[in-house]
Amino acid sequence: MTPFARRLAIAAPLAALTFLAQSVVAHADEPWVNAPMGPVAREIQPVYWILFAAAVVVLVIVDGGIIYSAIRFRERPGHLAKQFHGHNMLELTWTVIPTAMVIFFTVISFQRLQFINDTRTGAQMTIQAEGVQWAWNYKYPEEDRFRLKSGKYLTGAEDIHVPVGTKVRIELSSPDVIHDFFVPAIGGKKDAVPGRKTELWIQADRPGVYKGQCAEFCGDGHADMLIVLHAHEPAEYAKWLAEAIDFANLLDDPETQRGRDVFRNNACVGCHVIRGLSGGRVGPELTNIASKPNIAGVQSLSPVNVENLKKWISNPPAHKPGTQMPVVPLSETDLDALAKFLAVLK
Ligand code: CUA
Repeated sequence: MTPFARRLAIAAPLAALTFLAQSVVAHADEPWVNAPMGPVAREIQPVYWILFAAAVVVLVIVDGGIIYSAIRFRERPGHLAKQFHGHNMLELTWTVIPTAMVIFFTVISFQRLQFINDTRTGAQMTIQAEGVQWAWNYKYPEEDRFRLKSGKYLTGAEDIHVPVGTKVRIELSSPDVIHDFFVPAIGGKKDAVPGRKTELWIQADRPGVYKGQCAEFCGDGHADMLIVLHAHEPAEYAKWLAEAIDFANLLDDPETQRGRDVFRNNACVGCHVIRGLSGGRVGPELTNIASKPNIAGVQSLSPVNVENLKKWISNPPAHKPGTQMPVVPLSETDLDALAKFLAVLK
C-alpha cells in the first residue's frame, strides 16, 4: 500500500462517519422516526429500530471479521495462509442465525400489517390524493360541508388538512407514473400506481404541520412533490374549512372564469402560486394579491385594482426595471379578464 492509499483508507471512512454524525445532529429536531405522531408511525417505529439495531450488529460482526481476517491472515514473508475446505460449525452458524433473524423480522412485521393496512375500520373520512407529475392534488369528501356554490367539492394541492385524532383514509391514484405518499411522522407509505387505486390511512395525535414528500423517483420535478399535512383541532378545522370554501367559491365564480383561463393558459401559471389553482414557484405568490398595498412593491401601482393590474401586466419592466417578469402578449379582452380575476383575490 502506498502511503497515500493508506492515508486515504483511514481518512475516507472517518470523513463518511463525520458527515453521517453531522447530519444526524442537524436533523435531530425533525419529527422523523424517533418522534411518531400517529398510531401507524407508532406501530412502525419499534420495528424500524429493531431492524436498524440488527443491521448494525450484523455490520459490525461481518465487517469486523473481514477487516480482522484481512490484517491477521494477510500474505507476508514466512507466513502462508491456512488452507481448508468446509467448516460445519461455521456454515451452520451463518445459516441458522440469519434464518432465525429473517423469521423474527417477518413475524414482527406481519403482526402489525393488519392494523396498518386496515384503512376501513373506524375511518371517518376519505380524501382522494392524486399524485401527478409533479404535484399532489386532493379531493375532499362529497359531504355538504365540503360543497361549493357550484355544486363541486373542495379540492386542494400540496397542503392537505385533516382534523386531529381522526382516522382519515387516503385513496391514492396516478394518471402518469408511480408516485409515493409518505409523511414519516404520521407513518404509512404507499405507492400511487397508474391504473389502480391504492389506499392508506393517517391519523395525527396532535395539531401541527407534518411534512412529507413523494418517495418514489418520478422524473425531473420529483423533489417538488411536497406533502404538507396540517392537523387541526375540530374548531380550527371548521375555521380553516370555512375560509377554504370561501376562497374556492371565489376561484370557482363564473364571473371570473375567463380570467382564470387566461391565467392558466399563459406563462403566468408556470411561475405563480395561487392556492388551489396553480403551483409555480418562480414568481411571488398571488393568492392574496388584492390584499396587498401595491403591485410588486411598486408604489405608483397602488391600490391593487383592475386598472393598475392592467398597467403592470402589460409592461412590467416599464414600472420596475430589472424585474424577472416578462411581457406576456395578451389581447385587450384577455388582459381585462385576467386583471378582473386577480383583483378579487383577497
Ligand atoms: Cu412523484 Cu416522486
